[in-house]
Amino acid sequence: MTARSRLLRPGVVRAVSALGILAALALAGWAGRAWWESRLPGTYDVMDYGQPDYGGGPHVAHAHERISVATLHGPRGGTPDLQKTLTAARSEIRLASGRRVDVLAFDGRVPGPELRVREGGLVAVTLVNRDVRPGVSIHWHGVDVPNAEDGVSGVTQNAVPPGGRYTYRFRARQVGTFWYHSHQSSAKQVSRGLYGAFVVVPARKAAAALDLTVAAHRLRGSDVLGTSDRLQRRAVAPGTRVRLRLVNTDDSPRRFTLAGAPFRVVAIDGGDLRSPTAIAGQLLEVPAGSRFDVTFTMPPTPVTLQLVGTAAGIAFSRDGRIDVAAPNTSRVFDPAAYGAPNAARVPRKFDRSFRVDIGSRIAFRDGGIGKQWTMNDRVHPDVPMLVVRKGDWVKLTLTSDTRALHPMHLHGHHMLVLSRNGQAVQSPWWVDTVNLAKGDRYEVAFHATNPGLWMLHCHNLPHAADGLSLHLVYEGVHTPFRVGGRANNHPE
Ligand code: C2O
Ligand code: CU
Repeated sequence: MTARSRLLRPGVVRAVSALGILAALALAGWAGRAWWESRLPGTYDVMDYGQPDYGGGPHVAHAHERISVATLHGPRGGTPDLQKTLTAARSEIRLASGRRVDVLAFDGRVPGPELRVREGGLVAVTLVNRDVRPGVSIHWHGVDVPNAEDGVSGVTQNAVPPGGRYTYRFRARQVGTFWYHSHQSSAKQVSRGLYGAFVVVPARKAAAALDLTVAAHRLRGSDVLGTSDRLQRRAVAPGTRVRLRLVNTDDSPRRFTLAGAPFRVVAIDGGDLRSPTAIAGQLLEVPAGSRFDVTFTMPPTPVTLQLVGTAAGIAFSRDGRIDVAAPNTSRVFDPAAYGAPNAARVPRKFDRSFRVDIGSRIAFRDGGIGKQWTMNDRVHPDVPMLVVRKGDWVKLTLTSDTRALHPMHLHGHHMLVLSRNGQAVQSPWWVDTVNLAKGDRYEVAFHATNPGLWMLHCHNLPHAADGLSLHLVYEGVHTPFRVGGRANNHPE
């Protein structure tokens, strides 16, 4: 080694380490800024973050202080056909097994009281919050209500604080099986019991002689059907027409078996299926948030409905004492090729076409770093905001590239399933939830006829709480409500 290089070396080392420090500082600066920028303010307007997407249609004004969601309410006058007060409170209930569970409940019951109304009837439900902190709300899942009745705290109303009350008024125009649940801290409040069934029966057709709503839920670790975590038994006379309304109020799909009689799946998500044929020995897999209505005629022998993998079920028999074992099958009912093709009343040309690709990656979110859900590679709340104009026919393509299932639920609209994984479906069916597995690609259509600001989110509610949620907004609509801690509004 020469004297010179010996002299040089410390200088080189110094320069290199200075560069290293600079690079590290730059990286830290970038990360610090990304972290800082990802923090959400104490309260914010969900529309301030959305990245407007016009779906290839004309750009329309939005958030221009013209139409407040608060003005998009249901009928104020008129005598209600269904008037009800629902009181939300902390309670304790006892399951059929004897187990006592701490719950959040409407009227002290889980599920809350079933609300039933005739098609076209005026519904007036007053929500009273006794002691659920920091507040509650009621969302009418699957019912395309006017926007201000949609019950999303921080978006269509303020959460109702303990001691407060709020009245929802709307006309029940769609026939079918729906449900209601809190849309404040929904991941926690729904799982703990703030949900119930909402049923709209046809104005003219006679109902089935036995018409039962059955909600599947995991309530603080116990699998329940309705209020029971055991096999319930019921006496039913042979020849009785039975309709079961299966509701999945859980965060993941629930499977049912129906043994002992052929049955028909007559409706999904409240929408009647066309010419449903009798089937047997198929598993009914109801996605999170969805509903399947099945009918059968009671034979002289028993029929048993079972929530797969649990002790919960209902055994129907002549004397109410016997049951029948679940069929040993792995075949899952598929609505795509069931019944007669639906005469889809959907135009060939769409006014707007949106695409929402669900993925995940490491990113900052609200001052934390970790694996985040993404929509079109964007992280909440910086996600796409779908902008439409009233009257638009909209095509929505939903894909997922993550291992978890994502039951994507659109508020205020029903979507017609057009294709699945590149294949046109034989019998398009209407849904309010599209269940996406890894690699899935669904094309659905909806008619934008219900102005407002509407959520499109994963109904695996913890995913929504982790940011898997975006909004659909109509031209000119804005919200006076704010999301966040200071406003006490936590829709997810
Ligand atoms: Cu049942 Cu926004 O959800
Ligand atoms: Cu999800």
